[in-house]
Amino acid sequence: MPFSLEQRAVIDPDSVAALCDMLVACPKHVPTPLADLSALARRLGLGALRVKDESQRFGFGAFKALGGVLAVFAELSHAIRQQHGIDAGFAELMDAEHRKLTAGFTFTTASSGNHGRSVAAGAHLFGSRCVIFLPHFTSADKEAAIRARDAEVIRVAGDYDEAVAECRRQADKNDWAIISDTSWEGYECIPKSVMRGYGVLVHELLGQWPQGPTHVFVQAGVGGLAAAVIGYLWATQSVRPTFIVVEPESADCWFQSNRLGKPAPASGDAETVMGGLACREISPVTWPIVGIGGDWFMTIDEACVLPARRRFAKPMVGDPAIASGPSGCAGLAALLRACADPAARGALKLDPQARVLLINSEGNLGEPLP
Ligand SMILES: Cc1ncc(COP(=O)(O)O)c(C=O)c1O
Repeated sequence: MPFSLEQRAVIDPDSVAALCDMLVACPKHVPTPLADLSALARRLGLGALRVKDESQRFGFGAFKALGGVLAVFAELSHAIRQQHGIDAGFAELMDAEHRKLTAGFTFTTASSGNHGRSVAAGAHLFGSRCVIFLPHFTSADKEAAIRARDAEVIRVAGDYDEAVAECRRQADKNDWAIISDTSWEGYECIPKSVMRGYGVLVHELLGQWPQGPTHVFVQAGVGGLAAAVIGYLWATQSVRPTFIVVEPESADCWFQSNRLGKPAPASGDAETVMGGLACREISPVTWPIVGIGGDWFMTIDEACVLPARRRFAKPMVGDPAIASGPSGCAGLAALLRACADPAARGALKLDPQARVLLINSEGNLGEPLP
């Protein structure tokens, strides 16, 4: 299938280059490394295995730094354009001159931890108020990291999807601006802006690996990361890689949606150690990319997580060590599982011609390796 207007309305790679140019001006910004795990590739019988290591993003430790911060920036610079007719960059927005406007905003979102940290960082940077809704399972360290950016935190006695519902209720009541990474009917622009930020990691990746991957294992919660990765590569590569979307067994909303051919809820209760992937519902705006463009959908069980984190942390001789959290290592967990199953290996063509890309979407903040 060609990458058509329906897909480009969700992920437009042409809009990402401008974002990358803007980031060059940010002193903290350095592209994250693309780790080459050649020894593990040989062991698995693959041609190449590379890992985009988002644990090193901005000193923030997760790819989510690219979404929330930049979406907050986009909202505020839009408001300044409307009020003063000027295009304000990062530096101008941090300037005291605009504080009156930026301080008038309250940004909010629900998050399992990383996205909330990112929105809080954006609000803090530009002097806006921020309120983050967390589900019951988010670690105390992630909550502390959000509070350290001066955000207020509201714990919801439920899971991620219940935190989203509560955030929407409170935002409606208080007239707060929601910066959500998931979408719903009538609320799509901001999740698209968040995903545009994720596109930066794919843009970097293609500069680091001109040949590009033949296979991508990408982990999904609501599907924003998967949409950015699949959409960008689908739009720009002459030969489209095979995309394998990975989820925890209990939070298999993409797996179930693929089965039904339309958005469907997870079959389980989303209780999983992979907190970033603990979603019962997909982000509907991503359907034209992930639902249509994903080639395979697979689930992994909880027991896969620790061995994958250990494999990253204690690599084979010659490979670099990578610090990953439970959601960060999900792509590796899936790859190891598929390679161990001859039928899956054959179906996916995981052979010496395969060049596999994984994304270590988070480091081990608050979740040290036991
Ligand atoms: C570390 C990590 N990896 C992957 C994801 C999944 O991203 P998405 O919800 O956009 O599918 C998340 C989401 O919070 C995350 O925190």
